[in-house]
Amino acid sequence: MFLQIASLLIASASAQFTDKCGLPADNACLVKNAQYTFVGTVTSNTISSGGSASNYNATLSVRCMFASFSSPPSSGEGLVGNTITVTGWGVPNPKCPNGLGAAANVQDTNIYFINVAQRPQAGQSAQNIIYAVQDICVGGIPFNQANLQTISDVLAQNPGNAITGAAAGTDAACTLPKSSVSSSSSTTGSSGTPQFNAGARPETTYLAFAAFLVGSVFLSM
Ligand SMILES: *[C@@H]1O[C@H](CO)[C@@H](O)[C@H](O)[C@H]1NC(C)=O
Repeated sequence: MFLQIASLLIASASAQFTDKCGLPADNACLVKNAQYTFVGTVTSNTISSGGSASNYNATLSVRCMFASFSSPPSSGEGLVGNTITVTGWGVPNPKCPNGLGAAANVQDTNIYFINVAQRPQAGQSAQNIIYAVQDICVGGIPFNQANLQTISDVLAQNPGNAITGAAAGTDAACTLPKSSVSSSSSTTGSSGTPQFNAGARPETTYLAFAAFLVGSVFLSM
């Protein structure tokens, strides 16, 4: 009986877990948790070709590449100017509260956050890797000056995670505004090949905590 109640409570906790970066999301947190933060335009999606409104894939053409917070940071090499496949879209997503989800409508242009979803084959080029949207309850954020400022400020404090030079794109619209915070003294360069990063959501942490709470309640009864 107690076990049944406990599993019910855990099930409802997992259906409405809190996002790692909160909802509405903290944008600096999204940047710091994504393998890639970039500006892209959705060129196609699979809503009506194998997917559904609440679960589909999309292709995005990459215009600007700003940051990589994988460990080690990925170089972003070969992504700007190419089209990539990103999984994990859908609105509403049944895993998100309040009808939220991650939208990728054709022609949308936003700042997006993604992780490598499938371990790349040896020798696979960056644009052929399958990526996943980092936060399935958020998706992208508007490509505007305020959000570019947030990225600039995060990178001023984490310069080793900035993607620069040709890999960042040469489009003038990709230039980040000057940072409004003081720079970190770290000067680690960003280089290396894209790393596997499942982009796991923190559900297990919440589940473990929920189980712990439920266990404590029943033990004290
Ligand atoms: C999304 O892409 C993945 C990886 O290629 C594939 O396994 C999956 O079936 C696709 N899903 C949809 C809904 O298109």
